[in-house]
Amino acid sequence: MKRTFLRALESLPRILLLVCALTAAHAALAEAFTPEPGSDVKKGILLVAFGSSMPEGEEGINAVTDVVKAAYPGVEVRVSYTSRIIMRKIARERNKTVDEPAIALAKMAYEGFTDVTVVSTHVIPGAEYDDLKSVVDGFRLMSGGGPKAGFRRISLSLPLLSNLRDFERLAQALTDTYSERGRNGAVIFVGHGTHHFADAAYSALQMALWRKSPNFYVGTIEGMPSYDDVLARIKASKVKNALIAPAMLVAGDHAHNDIAGDEEDSWKSMLTAEGFRVTPVLSGLGQNKAVQSLILDKLREAWDEGAM
Ligand code: CO
Repeated sequence: MKRTFLRALESLPRILLLVCALTAAHAALAEAFTPEPGSDVKKGILLVAFGSSMPEGEEGINAVTDVVKAAYPGVEVRVSYTSRIIMRKIARERNKTVDEPAIALAKMAYEGFTDVTVVSTHVIPGAEYDDLKSVVDGFRLMSGGGPKAGFRRISLSLPLLSNLRDFERLAQALTDTYSERGRNGAVIFVGHGTHHFADAAYSALQMALWRKSPNFYVGTIEGMPSYDDVLARIKASKVKNALIAPAMLVAGDHAHNDIAGDEEDSWKSMLTAEGFRVTPVLSGLGQNKAVQSLILDKLREAWDEGAM
């Protein structure tokens, strides 16, 4: 027993030498295979929109995409839709493939992107945004788990109307755009509207607009304020002209049909029947320069949060 101990003690220098050699070799190998700091970083941007099946609607999404690309030269910008109905429709009718966010992100992870900023182009933090946030949160849970599991960093920008300051800023952008029209009649912004609590954002935007001018109105197709809410007020204001513009990212199906369509129940037809001279605007918020810069500001916040 004692002899065994002595023999082990004798071989200790040899064991220590071996450990040292192995450690040195390991360090050298690690150095050889570790890329230069920063060279393993691949940043990307994923822009997410509800989507549009109409080329006219796509223009709103393309306009924002172009502005984002210009602001982040050298960074790959991809586009993703959240509406499966629209994705199936454009695949069937125009042979165009757009991925939903979870698939687009999985592909980006597979292709080696390490830092991804997801840009929400939503107007309000409603159900569409909630869903997107869950997807991003899922990828965030996987992050840090190695190259095969998600990203190193992932962040998500806030929708246009997310905090108190946003109402003032969007109201300013809209009144600047239509100041001339606002002097000659009612300017009505028609949002989508939703059953979601975030529908209250449209009423808050209305208040922010009224602080600037009594002639600016907000209505929605599916929520509050409603068409009747707007009608009652513009009738009382005694204006003759009414400009109707979508308060949506794109001027797609809703803008062309529910707002400016020739059907009896479009906003244009109903307001015309009430005696107003109606001018529809077929351009989405995504095509408005001032709104584009608001979306860019939101993107910058998310980008900076992601780039620690
Ligand atoms: Co809709």
